[in-house]
Amino acid sequence: MIYSEDLIEEVRVRNDILGVVSGYVRLQRQGRRMVGLCPFHSEKTPSFSVDAGKQVFYCFGCQKGGNVFHFIMGIENLEFPDALKQLADRAGITLPESEDDGERERSKLKKEITALNREAARFFFSCLSKPEGRNAQQYLAGRGLQEKTLRVFGLGYAPDSWDALCRHLQEKGTPSWLLETAGLAASGGNGLYDRFRNRIMFPIFDIRGNIVGFGGRVMDDSQPKYLNSPDTPLFSKNRELYGMNFARLSSSKQLVMVEGYMDVISLHQAGVDTAVASLGTAFTQHQAWMLKKYAEEVIMAYDADPAGQNATLRGMEILEGTGSPIRILQIPDGKDPDEYVRKHGVEQFRTLLDTALSLLEFRLLLQKRAHPGEDVEDRVHLLNGMADVLATHENAIEREMTMAGIAGEYKVSMESLKTEVDKRLRKVGNGKGPIRTSGIMQGNRSVTDGPVRNRYDESELLLLCLLGNENRLFEELLLRRPATAYRGNISRVVAAKLYERLQNRHEASLAELANDLPPDAASAMIHMAETRGTVDNADKAIQDLLRRLERIALEDEKQWILESIRSEKDEVKLRELGVELNRVISRMSEIQMVASI
Ligand code: GTP
Ligand code: MN
Repeated sequence: MIYSEDLIEEVRVRNDILGVVSGYVRLQRQGRRMVGLCPFHSEKTPSFSVDAGKQVFYCFGCQKGGNVFHFIMGIENLEFPDALKQLADRAGITLPESEDDGERERSKLKKEITALNREAARFFFSCLSKPEGRNAQQYLAGRGLQEKTLRVFGLGYAPDSWDALCRHLQEKGTPSWLLETAGLAASGGNGLYDRFRNRIMFPIFDIRGNIVGFGGRVMDDSQPKYLNSPDTPLFSKNRELYGMNFARLSSSKQLVMVEGYMDVISLHQAGVDTAVASLGTAFTQHQAWMLKKYAEEVIMAYDADPAGQNATLRGMEILEGTGSPIRILQIPDGKDPDEYVRKHGVEQFRTLLDTALSLLEFRLLLQKRAHPGEDVEDRVHLLNGMADVLATHENAIEREMTMAGIAGEYKVSMESLKTEVDKRLRKVGNGKGPIRTSGIMQGNRSVTDGPVRNRYDESELLLLCLLGNENRLFEELLLRRPATAYRGNISRVVAAKLYERLQNRHEASLAELANDLPPDAASAMIHMAETRGTVDNADKAIQDLLRRLERIALEDEKQWILESIRSEKDEVKLRELGVELNRVISRMSEIQMVASI
């Protein structure tokens, strides 16, 4: 049976690759990756790695790689449909008997819920301006929200009634089961009743701007303060980022991660259009990937209270796992971003953004807070704690410069500090140290045969890997190189799918693209992504690659023209070929010149 892309992707997303691989391989942390002994070839030093952020595995030794499906296919020796079935079972997903029917039903249901949510949001919004919504209006005004902001975020009011929304929607012909499935109503002894009553309503948008659920806030101190929609076929709390539908349109490449609905709204109103929030629940991998896709830098600006600081620590780890550059914004005087920006204004908030701490600075600050004492013993604890932090920091230059600062501040010699840090760095396998086993890098050579046949195919594939890792490059690539321009066996398939996804859904990941590739092709792609897909400056890298592709194409063309000239007898044709040759050669020297600037 043929299963739909969405279903396959759901099975993939619901099987975290770390969890699956851990069932077969003992993994240890090494920097961004988890590493272990490769189950696909025999070895003594670990060169098999799992990148939880990207949700792929890759062996630097035997160069096998892919997503969770390829792993199961390889290790259990299964064909794709059976691997799919096994992983679907593992995630508790029932594969439909007749795929077409199942999928059609599901997508129809999602559309119905989307439409119903829109209708409900309209209703809540309209209730704001009715007499019963007077309190809610006042509450929102009291929190400094302008009329326009209410409209942009679609805020509303759920009346203080057991069935106002149900009645309204049922009059329009909505069946009860749909109201329940959408999470707008529940049924009890007396029949159907509204889930949200006497609350300020916050529609939750997905990244495309569809309303997938709601959050409802009380207007006094009663509990729970917020009530969210339950998970529905359309909505799963830990997949959405509130505000992302707006933030992704920002011209800034920075995203500001905050805790609450109100923080997002307040910041947007003040002009910080890059604020997004996870929905109260713990920040998830899925959300981290989404951030990574849309931002060059993430600033975490959680509440200053202990809960917020703890959430910061957890969030940092997850974000670090995806390789996103992160900084931490500390809000002074025990506030959240909403209160801060209203009290001090947006300029001061922007200053906080500019001066947000690097991860290293933040971790050192935590050490200082943990060891505030001034006597010798406290100082020894503090400096040891700092040495621990420094040893887990991968960038040697930053490490060195920071050490110099610490040595100066605490009046210890640079040598002794360095000795302590080096001691910790040498402890391989302490589970935290930077990558320093050479074994992992050994197989790091480029593919010369196999599915990626030559430099041209290789450059194309690398270009696509960069695009898969950083979706923001799409605009530029779409102009410079359409999907139909790709020639390589794998890159043709990958390009078609990747461009289609980015155009229609605005996001795509390599792990998802791998769904469409047979194991050897997936390995080739992941090989490229893992060995060469992480670059400091992706914009420059794609310019270089585009130039290289054009140059190789021109070289091919030149060879072809030269051969034709050799065998051509006709004077006129020869002259034409000469003109062509000149064009190619002059274009080649143009590229050469641009490249050398
Ligand atoms: P205000 O108190 O109105 O400023 O809201 P806030 O957005 O600042 O909320 P807070 O910092 O207290 O909490 C952050 C986020 O956690 C909220 O936006 C909600 O998404 C979520 N949250 C807070 N309280 C609850 C609750 O009682 N239940 C649930 N499900 N989520 C909550
Ligand atoms: Mn708040």
